[in-house]
Amino acid sequence: MDSREIEADLTEVLVTEQQIRDKLAELARRIEADYEGRDLLLVGVLKGAVMVMADLARELRPHVTMDWMAVSSYGMGTASSGVVKILKDLDSDLSGRDVLIVEDIIDSGLTLSWLLGNLASRGAASIEICALLRKPDAAKVEIDVKYLGFDIPNQFVVGYGLDYAERYRNLRDVAILAPHVYS
Ligand code: XMP
Ligand code: MG
Repeated sequence: MDSREIEADLTEVLVTEQQIRDKLAELARRIEADYEGRDLLLVGVLKGAVMVMADLARELRPHVTMDWMAVSSYGMGTASSGVVKILKDLDSDLSGRDVLIVEDIIDSGLTLSWLLGNLASRGAASIEICALLRKPDAAKVEIDVKYLGFDIPNQFVVGYGLDYAERYRNLRDVAILAPHVYS
């Protein structure tokens, strides 16, 4: 695919690379202050959170550890099924750990709601959430996000880790996917 074909698939850039970078720096300063003197475990949710994790982790000055989980809730479509399955579990033991879940986007909130319940049963000392994006109008369950990047409209977005059928993850900005691509 060349870049003109990709542009035709997008209707609007919602959040630019620079806005993301600035926001992650701001969130990182808050996280550093809140976890001062503690060992933080960042838990990234594959695959969408890869970019957020990479950039947030490098913004954080103190030493952190990273672990990954892969869950499925969507398949190839654009609407949440609410059914969550663990495709890859964490390698770490969470007992006594301060855990920060790193997510790309909160849409219905069903995935994170399930994940919070699942991780809470493993004896972590604390669990908080950092999400780059949230669609407030799509919420089916309320999620308490301590570190939020941007609220966005209820439209399907791609880029900066977010995909449609595994494509567009490597776009540097977050953009709205044109409905003709998936309808
Ligand atoms: P829920 O609805 O459970 O969704 O909060 C969470 C997961 O669904 C994916 N998701 C999206 N992926 N563009 C994407 O590329 C979107 O607009 C979008 N909305 C939700 C994402 O993997 C997220 O972790
Ligand atoms: Mg996805």
